[in-house]
Amino acid sequence: MEIKQVGVLGCGLMGHGIAQVAAQAGYDVVVREVDQGKLDKGLGKIEKQLGRAVEKGRMEQNEADAVRGRIKGTLDYSDLADSDLVIEAITEDLDMKLEMWREVDSVVKPEAVFATNTSSLPVIDQAAVTSRPESFLGLHYFNPAQVMKLVEVVRGITTSDEAFAVGTDFAKSIGKLGIPTRDSAGFIVNRLLVPYMLDAIRAYEEGVGSVDEIDAAMKAGAAHPMGPLQLSDFVGLDTLGSICDVMFDEFRERRFARPPTLRKMLAAGWYGQKSGMGFYDWSGDEPVPNPQLS
Ligand code: 3HC
Repeated sequence: MEIKQVGVLGCGLMGHGIAQVAAQAGYDVVVREVDQGKLDKGLGKIEKQLGRAVEKGRMEQNEADAVRGRIKGTLDYSDLADSDLVIEAITEDLDMKLEMWREVDSVVKPEAVFATNTSSLPVIDQAAVTSRPESFLGLHYFNPAQVMKLVEVVRGITTSDEAFAVGTDFAKSIGKLGIPTRDSAGFIVNRLLVPYMLDAIRAYEEGVGSVDEIDAAMKAGAAHPMGPLQLSDFVGLDTLGSICDVMFDEFRERRFARPPTLRKMLAAGWYGQKSGMGFYDWSGDEPVPNPQLS
């Protein structure tokens, strides 16, 4: 199956990157948001990234203009009707995703393949509300989608060989490393990464080290580009909270349980980098440890 147009649902943290990477690979992209403000914000981020790429000499101005020209923003599901592949990257909330898929399924052509960028929700639960569960798979990107090489290609129990091949070929065509995984909550990366981030929060709670000491230790001692608490802020504490709840419900294991500090931070409205406050205060040029946590 040849893919010409890619539909992207959501133009937030992940959606804008997914849309940008597809357009950079030459696909026509239609990206849908719920309101104009969110859409403008997401498209603005893409324009900023393209501007930076030109500034740094990684892209010619005419190429950046062509990439931007291939991305159409919309508030209307029906603009996705002719998409060959639709990738959802909306909020990590199953009910919202199911409601959205019912709408999308009713307007997008029957031969199109659907993919979810869910971090942890079972792919089958979403596939089952569409009329095409065999044409449904997971394509799990990593933040920032423009930079991170991996896309997990998730085979649900109903995914056909053809749909799985579409996902695998698509990941390759956008320059990503597609790794196949089974439809098990958290797939490969989050199954390992989420308990690690949660354990870092527990280490902080137990006074093993301060926020910046824990992060500095993992950067200098394990060569990670970011420490686990900064990474938690970067992923979004709300997203981390949703993922660990799903994984805890699924596996009933303490390693996936939400630590009290995370619960309290979310109650305070501290969602990490996106809200300006988390384990770090992100309001300045450089993140500084949140003084309330010292
Ligand atoms: N969009 C596009 N490009 C970006 C970017 C973004 N949001 N952020 C950084 N970049 C680019 C920069 O332009 C720069 O490119 P250049 O080398 O060509 O100039 C390059 O990435 C490096 O960026 P910086 O020099 O600004 O900063 P760093 O060297 O510190 O790299 C980082 C930033 C790539 C984010 C690095 O810190 C990193 O790899 N962090 C870990 C990220 C990670 O683990 N992500 C996975 C999270 S888990 C997940 O997403 C799964 C989900 O389900 C929870």
